[in-house]
Amino acid sequence: MNEIKEQLKFTLNKLELDDNVGQYYRGKVRDNYYFDDKMLMVTTDRVSAFDHVLGTIPFKGQILTEIANFWFDKTKDIVPNHVISNPDPQVLISKKANTLPVEIIIRKYITGSLWREYSQGINGQYGFMLDSDLKENQEFESPIITPSTKAEYGQHDEPISRDEIIKDLVPEEIYSKAEEYALKLFDLGQKWANKMGLILVDTKYEFGLYNNELIVIDEIHTPDSSRYWIKDDYAHNFENNQPQNMLDKENIRQWLIEQGFKGEGTPPDLTDDIRILLSQKYIELYKKLTGNEFEPQVGDVKNRILANLSEKSVI
Ligand SMILES: Nc1ncnc2c1ncn2[C@@H]1O[C@H](COP(=O)(O)OP(=O)(O)OP(=O)(O)O)[C@@H](O)[C@H]1O
Ligand SMILES: [Mg+2]
Repeated sequence: MNEIKEQLKFTLNKLELDDNVGQYYRGKVRDNYYFDDKMLMVTTDRVSAFDHVLGTIPFKGQILTEIANFWFDKTKDIVPNHVISNPDPQVLISKKANTLPVEIIIRKYITGSLWREYSQGINGQYGFMLDSDLKENQEFESPIITPSTKAEYGQHDEPISRDEIIKDLVPEEIYSKAEEYALKLFDLGQKWANKMGLILVDTKYEFGLYNNELIVIDEIHTPDSSRYWIKDDYAHNFENNQPQNMLDKENIRQWLIEQGFKGEGTPPDLTDDIRILLSQKYIELYKKLTGNEFEPQVGDVKNRILANLSEKSVI
């Protein structure tokens, strides 16, 4: 707890490297450098919600990178991924892929943005109809895929159907393979989470082609790209129409909604309390999911990364 508070002033908002490292692309969360057929991905401590960058969260970049690596390693034999090496706890060198212009979102429960749409009467936007009598946070019999477009910076991702994707955006053969991979990853993720007392509620995957091979890229099963709930609390909360006990980014979305922000206009400044709370949730998830203690890299993140990159001759 004290470590989190201390770290507030050391978080990494951005890491700008020399131009000669590669072509720079600033995502909402990552600072990326493309060089040759590789990509240097620095997961900063920035947090985004509703497509706005809001500020930074202590240890977030380290937690995301370590959780993503945990999953990439666990799943590498069933789905090829982009990992090459990991020169710092929050830096990855990966295979630079030709990205598919869609995100594959898989859900086992109706919650979050899908619930918000459904409860406003929106249905069918993904090319199939949801049952008409669902309750918030209800479990589906089997996972559903609700794809979205991958919007340009500053734009919102939009729902899209499978038919539209294979008609306009991705050859059917490739998209089917991506779906198959996504379902395999999600199945493995759900089973592992269940063993650790968690529910993997839903998640988002990105895929790309590298040397004609389809690989999973970006991050997998992190608390930025997924929802996780505490398994033992699910049934009681569901039956009593109470919010689920969640260990993911939804905490910050809920906080924003409580402040009256729903995605339009200027988001409120994060308070230290909410920054600390999200850090605690992410650390709790880390421990539950991996079964290991979290070892925070306390101190100035930027200097540490620069030292690691130069020691490993990356820069
Ligand atoms: N192996 C890869 N090859 C090519 N691009 C990748 C790879 N892995 C991730 N990316 C892309 O790198 C970027 C990572 O940055 P980040 O996660 O911050 O972006 P984002 O905020 O999710 O998306 P946006 O690009 O819309 O800002 C994403 O655009 C992602 O699609
Ligand atoms: Mg991303």
